[in-house]
Amino acid sequence: MVQKSTSVCLLGGFLGLFLMAPVLMSSTPASMCTPLKTLNDSLSHRRRYMKHNFPINYSIRVYREEIFKLSNISRMRLKVEELDDLVLQRLWFQVNQGVLKKIIRVMSERHPSRSYTAELERRFKDVEGVFVQSHPAEVFQQELPEAVQETWDHLTEEPNRVPESNWRLASPKSLVDNLCHTMYCLFSECFDAETQQDYCGVSHSRRGRKNSSRNTVTTPAE
Ligand SMILES: *[C@@H]1O[C@H](CO)[C@@H](O)[C@H](O)[C@H]1NC(C)=O
Ligand SMILES: *[C@@H]1O[C@H](CO)[C@@H](O)[C@H](O)[C@H]1NC(C)=O
Ligand SMILES: *[C@@H]1O[C@H](CO)[C@@H](O)[C@H](O)[C@H]1NC(C)=O
Ligand SMILES: *[C@@H]1O[C@H](CO)[C@@H](O)[C@H](O)[C@H]1NC(C)=O
Repeated sequence: MVQKSTSVCLLGGFLGLFLMAPVLMSSTPASMCTPLKTLNDSLSHRRRYMKHNFPINYSIRVYREEIFKLSNISRMRLKVEELDDLVLQRLWFQVNQGVLKKIIRVMSERHPSRSYTAELERRFKDVEGVFVQSHPAEVFQQELPEAVQETWDHLTEEPNRVPESNWRLASPKSLVDNLCHTMYCLFSECFDAETQQDYCGVSHSRRGRKNSSRNTVTTPAE
């Protein structure tokens, strides 16, 4: 009898694993594409609102880890074995909700980019809502790989506990560019259908600087 219930348990466990597997391996649920495209529409106006409406060379203080570019993704994929895209997607949401908050904070109510940025944030949150809904809750309780957890801990640190050496200056435009380029890479199923472009290639965002035939995930970071 004991043995029987044990095997039922085991079977249950295996079934659980089996059922989880497809969830863990699929990278972007199709339901995310509509809100992502809406966000992408807003992002297409970022030069005007994130650059032209600010003083030349204007920059804000962000955490070091809030600078999250394509090169970070390729480096992490090399460093962490079998890194699940879902982990990188979670990191993308964590980084960019902080970034958008910091950009909004420097603008007065009547700043000409204020309502644009508020809309960007709203659309970003819409994407996050669908992301959370379309995965079972357990996925978000899973332990992160150590290196990612360390980054996560830094991102969620209170500002007054972040040492001076871990702050960086960055322009609003460069931060939103990072958001956009990493979005194309991490949710590529929603973006590469027509273009077949490798959005994760580091040189994609710096056309002309590098040889485009080296446009692969394993391109060494800058
Ligand atoms: C995303 O926006 C860019 C313009 O910034 C546009 O060229 C591209 O087609 C858009 N992608 C999708 C999938 O909507
Ligand atoms: C902005 O930064 C560039 C590059 O660092 C520099 O050459 C330029 O003089 C700066 N412009 C102003 C107005 O500070
Ligand atoms: C991205 O790379 C830069 C430069 O190495 C680093 O300072 C930053 O913390 C990295 N960002 C993340 C989210 O790991
Ligand atoms: C780009 O790389 C390829 C192969 O690595 C090489 O044959 C080609 O000459 C390079 N082009 C430029 C412009 O460097």
